Amino acid sequence: MLTREQSRLIERQEWLEPTSETVQKAVSSALTGSPLKRRLDNFLNGVWLGHPLHPLLTDIPIGAWTVALGLDAYEAGTGHAQFAPGADAAVVMGLVGGFASAISGLAQWQYTDAQPRRTGMAHALLNVTGVTLYITSAALRTRGKRSLGQGAALLGYGCVMAAGYLGGDLAYNLRIGVNHAPGQTPPDRFTAVMPVHALAEGTAHAVDVGDLRMMLVRQQGQIYALARECAHLGGPLEEGTLADGCVTCPWHGSRFALDDGRVVDGPATFPQPHFEIRVREGQIEVRMTPQ
Ligand code: FES
Repeated sequence: MLTREQSRLIERQEWLEPTSETVQKAVSSALTGSPLKRRLDNFLNGVWLGHPLHPLLTDIPIGAWTVALGLDAYEAGTGHAQFAPGADAAVVMGLVGGFASAISGLAQWQYTDAQPRRTGMAHALLNVTGVTLYITSAALRTRGKRSLGQGAALLGYGCVMAAGYLGGDLAYNLRIGVNHAPGQTPPDRFTAVMPVHALAEGTAHAVDVGDLRMMLVRQQGQIYALARECAHLGGPLEEGTLADGCVTCPWHGSRFALDDGRVVDGPATFPQPHFEIRVREGQIEVRMTPQ
């Protein structure tokens, strides 16, 4: 298991950058460039799920390998091998789940940079080491070398746990995969924010109401209001592209519907907060849309 200091040390490892960049480019080119790839990227990022898919899938290998660890320990402690087939099956099940988890993790990681990218690379390298040890364990078990296979699995479990620690750091400290849309308190009564004539057709305009940062958009005569920090990683939506009733984030291309903030295309998985609009006496007024 890693300590917080070791985790900080990994985050500072600049030598991980070139490898990270190369792998990231390969992942991006595999998941961008055609509508089919876009759909696959949406799926792997968890757009359909409403939050990232990766943390859900990581439970499969961790759960399976924990079962294998327990059954191996029972066998080693008692000398009874009646659960050996269960342990071997759990090792294989963990490998299948680990593969799915790795693919979804790469899809999510491709949008990171700097410190989160380095931590993500270290997380992946530890998992690759863990998976390699579990493949070795499965092979040794098949050949009847159970003690060696159990030893390899134990080492693999240590790697996976260390990788899990870094995964937690990515989510809870570096805020990868969490909702970046601002958790502000909007007015519950209509509040004037700007004159209607100042909002040109086909443009987005940033306005602040207290600590609430939103953008107003006029498209085809309709006015919309959304929070302007992208729910994915906080990109400036007011600098995004407007088309077909949607705004596209300039950072990684998430598309949100202007009328209700729903995710049309990922990698964002959380909807963009939106606000109710009315025009009174030449002023655009907003309030929180009842959810
Ligand atoms: S910040 Fe990534 S899509 Fe907006």
